[in-house]
Amino acid sequence: PRPALKYFHGLPLIKYFAENFEEVEKFQAHPDDLLISTYPKAGTTWMSEIVDLILNDGDIEKSKRDAIFIRVPFLEFAVPGVLKGIEQLAALPPPRVIKTHLPVEFLPQSFWDKNCKMIYVARNAKDVAVSYYHFYQMAKVHPDPGTWKQFLKKYMDGDVSFGSWYNHVKGWWEKKKDYRILYLFYEDMKENPKREIQKVMKFMEKDLGEEVLERIVRRTSFQVMKENDMANYGTIPTSVMDHSISPFMRKGISGDWKNYFTVAQNEEFDADYAKKMGQTSLQFRNEL
Ligand code: PPS
Repeated sequence: PRPALKYFHGLPLIKYFAENFEEVEKFQAHPDDLLISTYPKAGTTWMSEIVDLILNDGDIEKSKRDAIFIRVPFLEFAVPGVLKGIEQLAALPPPRVIKTHLPVEFLPQSFWDKNCKMIYVARNAKDVAVSYYHFYQMAKVHPDPGTWKQFLKKYMDGDVSFGSWYNHVKGWWEKKKDYRILYLFYEDMKENPKREIQKVMKFMEKDLGEEVLERIVRRTSFQVMKENDMANYGTIPTSVMDHSISPFMRKGISGDWKNYFTVAQNEEFDADYAKKMGQTSLQFRNEL
């Protein structure tokens, strides 16, 4: 039986995450923590693998030391019988790399007080919807997504785990005016991974040279990550994530939404999108 989402101060979360959230709010960041923040399915794992490799000077052997969700703990993660994100982080020596999907207003205050560096990855709303629909099916801590039509409506209403995509991408975009946030786009990473990885290196104040850069580009390509059990979530029990329903490393492309949205759904989505995204300077290339 799949648990329903549970609201924490208006934010829909996986039930166990919501029940643990008061502890997460008290989390104490270190000034040298690096936060990777994303709405779900925007390229979190991809960026995590990139950052871990940069931090370890492109040493591939070191990147094999553990699964990505251990190397880069998920701050608000909490499911029964497994170490919580905050417990994992307490045992991790600095500099720590931390994953979060929290909307900007729910990030523990300590990250702002310590002025931590943050990398935000945004992905276009339609491809996220498609990717999230498949993830809901395979990752069984989520409610049953129902049909694509039913899921898309919930997604547009923000009635999915971590809430509204629209508020998430806009909230973090506004915050970058005042904090050390590198705001990147999945579509740019697909177009030119080398260029975007260079931006990450610069942000991390790491100059590793051309050869290492090329190595990181290759190692973090979709095909290589899909085959890499330390990056593809393949070590998670099938009772939790069933890759035979839909693999975590599913397609890794931009524009897959065209295979799912009907013409009518697309028109409705665009009209709603214009309303929700009208008052922001944030622009997505693939939004149409
Ligand atoms: S999660 O569960 O929120 O942390 O998921 P997240 O990692 O953010 O998103 C998963 C989607 O990212 C795709 N992916 C990649 N695309 C391109 N290149 C690389 N290296 C890569 N790694 C992961 C993954 O396939 C999911 O997207 P879809 O569209 O479902 O394929």
